Amino acid sequence: MPKPLLRVEELNKTYLLGKQRVAVLRDISFTVGQGEFVAITGASGSGKSTLLALLGGLDQADSGRIFLGQEEISKLNEKRLAVLRNRRIGFVFQSFHLAPSLNAFENVAFPAELAGDREAAAKAERLLRRVDLWPRYGNFPSQLSGGERQRVAICRALINTPSLILADEPTGNLDSAAAALVLDLLLQIKDEYGVTLVMVTHSPEVAARAGRVIRLSDGRIAA
Ligand SMILES: Nc1ncnc2c1ncn2[C@@H]1O[C@H](COP(=O)(O)OP(=O)(O)O)[C@@H](O)[C@H]1O
Ligand SMILES: [Mg+2]
Repeated sequence: MPKPLLRVEELNKTYLLGKQRVAVLRDISFTVGQGEFVAITGASGSGKSTLLALLGGLDQADSGRIFLGQEEISKLNEKRLAVLRNRRIGFVFQSFHLAPSLNAFENVAFPAELAGDREAAAKAERLLRRVDLWPRYGNFPSQLSGGERQRVAICRALINTPSLILADEPTGNLDSAAAALVLDLLLQIKDEYGVTLVMVTHSPEVAARAGRVIRLSDGRIAA
């Protein structure tokens, strides 16, 4: 078992629907080791995206604790969470979430510039070359295919060398050829950068490539 990177203890999350509290995550506990690839699966509405948002400090649980390394992220204020999200966690979303007014290069470099990294430009170029998109560096997201956009998003997620990548159905909006390419790249780069990957996926083929699968059912981890 590798050293634990992510530790989740007894997470509970409810949403208010009208006047009713609906439980979305119930007593979720698990640990992810450094360098692992863990897939999160489960039916639509089972709480996968909610869980990922909690892990990334994008939303808060009602109770429970989340540790990234030694740091309890469920205790951080918004300012420290913003720094953590910028430096230590990379996000990849189904719908890419690129800034439409920035070209591919600028999208990738942006988180590093935000972090005050003087190597931002060099790192962005290296990453775009790595995913074979350097010739397209000046293109805006609207001028790129879905697969190309997701490769840009992967570069952006990696530029600050995070310890953890959180990916929510990263190939969900891609045709099967583009999806296969993006998944292969993500898994290769994950190993090259020694990063830990937690990925929500609907796809049994994708889950089959994970070291471990966590299946959510009705907000709980199914046996
Ligand atoms: N902001 C919200 N307000 C109220 N209910 C929400 C909100 N976000 C998600 N939900 C509900 O929580 C449940 C889990 O959603 P989600 O985590 O997106 O599931 P999944 O990603 O597995 O499809 C669903 O029933 C959904 O309708
Ligand atoms: Mg979802």
